[in-house]
Amino acid sequence: MTQYLLSIDQGTTSSRAIIFTENGERVAIGQHDYAQHYPRDGWVEHEPEDIWRTTITSCRDAIKAADIKPQQIASIGITNQRETTVIWDRRTGQPVHRAIVWQDRRTAAYCSALREKLEKAGQAGLIQQKTGLLLDAYFSASKIVWLLDNIPGARQAAEQGDLAFGTIDSYLLWHLTAGKLHATDATNASRTMLFNIHTQQWDQELLELFGIPEKILPQVKDCADNYGFTTPELFGHSIPIGGMMGDQQAAAFGQACFEPGMTKSTYGTGCFLLMNSGKQALTSRHNLLTTVAFRLNGETHYALEGSIFMAGATMQWLRDKLRLFSSTAETEALAAQADPGLSVMLVPAFTGLGAPWWDPDARGAIFGLTRDAGIPEIVAAALMSVAYQTKDLQKAMEADGQRPNTLRVDGGMAANGFAMQQLADLLGCQVDRPEVTETTALGAAFVAGLQAGIYHSLQQISALWKLEHSFAPEKDKNWRDQQYNRWLDAVNRTRTN
Ligand code: G3P
Repeated sequence: MTQYLLSIDQGTTSSRAIIFTENGERVAIGQHDYAQHYPRDGWVEHEPEDIWRTTITSCRDAIKAADIKPQQIASIGITNQRETTVIWDRRTGQPVHRAIVWQDRRTAAYCSALREKLEKAGQAGLIQQKTGLLLDAYFSASKIVWLLDNIPGARQAAEQGDLAFGTIDSYLLWHLTAGKLHATDATNASRTMLFNIHTQQWDQELLELFGIPEKILPQVKDCADNYGFTTPELFGHSIPIGGMMGDQQAAAFGQACFEPGMTKSTYGTGCFLLMNSGKQALTSRHNLLTTVAFRLNGETHYALEGSIFMAGATMQWLRDKLRLFSSTAETEALAAQADPGLSVMLVPAFTGLGAPWWDPDARGAIFGLTRDAGIPEIVAAALMSVAYQTKDLQKAMEADGQRPNTLRVDGGMAANGFAMQQLADLLGCQVDRPEVTETTALGAAFVAGLQAGIYHSLQQISALWKLEHSFAPEKDKNWRDQQYNRWLDAVNRTRTN
């Protein structure tokens, strides 16, 4: 009987399930978008029930489209939008509130106050030393605090052990196993701001600092591990769950970035650049994050990460709010019509600016509009903003003494030739696009396959990575510097810190 791997990719705007062959070829996909809730400026929420429903429907759709039996699925891998925080009642499985999404900025003031407190106590570096993260509303810790402080009775219930916290991976696992497992993996744990990435344990000092009871936290496992079985009612057969990874780490895994220095950039809702740093956790002095790249057989590999919040989401905004085009597939041709002499700049700080600026209060802006500027120029500026932001990350990595020579790209926007060529030109380095750009899902399938014994080594997985197109830089250093300085000028005009 031919065996397959089922990858669940629960993303910020849609839930997807993809069936892969053992060779990493995509067989079928199920995908469902779900509602985004923006109750106030800077607040972003998801209904956990929507996440669960769209995930399970996507799995069933994918199995049906692949025309396979659930018995043929050797293992399930779960990958997910990271940091997004859900707290639910262990007795009923009911969430106490909507999920607070990673993009949500409601705890920005709390984070600033805590930063000041730590600085005054001479402990400014405490959080970065332990977690590799910068104190920001992006991560789960302050979102948990908000829920415990704002939902009546939540803190007391948490202290009594009645509530469970999870990022989306844990929430899905809980439901897939009918409440049998409350677990996460080391990559997702490393985004909570409560996990010590050096000792690989929940950190008591940080739990005290945030006032979070340990009882609500999940058990932390390897990325390829025994995550139990799906409850039989879901697919008519219990399928083993063997892999779990945060989506950006999964993308790096799917891109086979296993050696130190190997770097990937994923263009989904946001853009996340990860450089493998091997068994060494490098500390950034230029506002990048240190994160767990993967943990296998108890051995941790680390990465340096630059996170920017708006990539594909900027294009969605142009499509849905400004209605400049009806499908993002049109943007490549539109951008190609832009007058290169016009210098429209779009700074997509819709939910603040991520790395390396970390300015939660900045908001989006368009500069350099003239009467000649039209839809092509605005679309080109939006695509360019993604390349400029990647350049910001490259600069920060360089300042930290790291210079990736090539960049492996993936995610929806990697299909856009205009954006990828601009990226190669601006970075001045080769940009490689693989045959499978669904590398997030593929990475989760790979870890699940490791657990199922389909793969036996990382070398075996590396051999499955295939180049589809390489974009070489076509512009010189003068052009790069000039363009980038204009970007920096635009960013400086939107910053508040
Ligand atoms: O850190 C947030 C990230 O995991 C979200 O990824 O693919 O949903 O934009 P994505």
